[in-house]
Amino acid sequence: MAAKNLPPTYDKIAHHEVFPETTHDEKARYNFLANLNKHLAHVSQGNAVAFKNRVQPKFKEEHGRDFENKDELGDAMAKDMHYQTWSALRRCTMEMRQQAGRSLTYRQAMELKEKVDKLNEGKSSLVLDDEVSPPPYLMAVDNHIMPGSYHTELFEGDVSNAANYDGGLFVTSQGLLGKLSDGGGKAISQWVRDNHPEFQPKRILDIGCGMGHNTLPLAKMYPDAEVIGIDTGRPMLRYGHARAMALGYDNVKFMQVEASKMPFEDESFDWIQTTMFLHETGGKSIYNIMREIYRCLAPDGLTMHIEQPQYTDDMTMYEKWIRDWDAYNNSEPYWSKMHDIDPKELMVECGFNGDTFMQIGAQAINDLDDGTQKADEPEDHGRSPIWNVFGAWKK
Ligand SMILES: C[S@@+](CC[C@H](N)C(=O)[O-])C[C@H]1O[C@@H](n2cnc3c(N)ncnc32)[C@H](O)[C@@H]1O
Repeated sequence: MAAKNLPPTYDKIAHHEVFPETTHDEKARYNFLANLNKHLAHVSQGNAVAFKNRVQPKFKEEHGRDFENKDELGDAMAKDMHYQTWSALRRCTMEMRQQAGRSLTYRQAMELKEKVDKLNEGKSSLVLDDEVSPPPYLMAVDNHIMPGSYHTELFEGDVSNAANYDGGLFVTSQGLLGKLSDGGGKAISQWVRDNHPEFQPKRILDIGCGMGHNTLPLAKMYPDAEVIGIDTGRPMLRYGHARAMALGYDNVKFMQVEASKMPFEDESFDWIQTTMFLHETGGKSIYNIMREIYRCLAPDGLTMHIEQPQYTDDMTMYEKWIRDWDAYNNSEPYWSKMHDIDPKELMVECGFNGDTFMQIGAQAINDLDDGTQKADEPEDHGRSPIWNVFGAWKK
């Protein structure tokens, strides 16, 4: 059992057949970083104190008024030493996670490719398409400062960035997503089954599936369904398909598809899911993708979207600003805008009936010993496994 209030150790997460190997020192580095992230969630509470006791009173004194917007608030906070220290350290944990993961996956890049190729060989459930490229908004940045983002292959068939993502997620999530980093998919599939037992989807689509962390729980909950995960990142798809094979799944297909131009027929899916996807879609894309979801969803079909909390009118300006940290410091350029959208308005604009709109809170289902987030622990803003899930039925 993990010590109280410490993240589980890296050796507790599942090491499936294509999971990258780690030496003693590499494990120790990941454990150190997971602990540092957890510690920084506590240190972040001092940011709220700095804001309330120092930064806001000083601004009011100098300007004779309160902050009018998040930019003003951010400029003032950027001068505060506590915030500077916390923010720099938080950025460092992200940089160090990437460097740690890169060095260990590059070392075994050829072995990983060979293992993945062997599991994928001759399988029609992996569909790659040379004509599909990642959307420009995804190519423009290294999302969450992951070098090469989701699509870069250093050589044909390279899966090292996917393997880096798989192992390194433990650091960012502090092990709170469970042995297979699938706590989100488990939570939503259980919610759907418990709350809508009559709903028996035969065809499920997971958009922006990455390597299928949260796709596989849907396939497990509905073993008679055909489950399709789509993404534009070839390394993610190759690795994800091999991972699904290694874990014994036979009802999941991985396809290279761009979400705003899906090659699927109208009304051809009963459930369309996204998990931690919409915040990475830029500008108009979120609307184009939601329209595609509406088109591809069958009558009485369900769509659900797992995200970090939306910004609401009753959230303070400080709270919205601290939640924006990833947008400004962690290469998540659409984070802030997406969380500011009214999800009901988004869905109604894209064709859904507002009366069927729903919004629920969900916490990751974590199968690691002592791995669940305790109610009295501070949230790691923007990275907590406590989600806002919104969606609608197509009626
Ligand atoms: C943060 S990852 C989430 C992965 C996965 N859903 C999970 O829960 O682990 C977002 C994924 O969306 C993919 N993506 C972003 N925009 C896309 C688009 N327009 N079409 C297809 N995939 C996209 C990225 O390549 C990336 O793998």
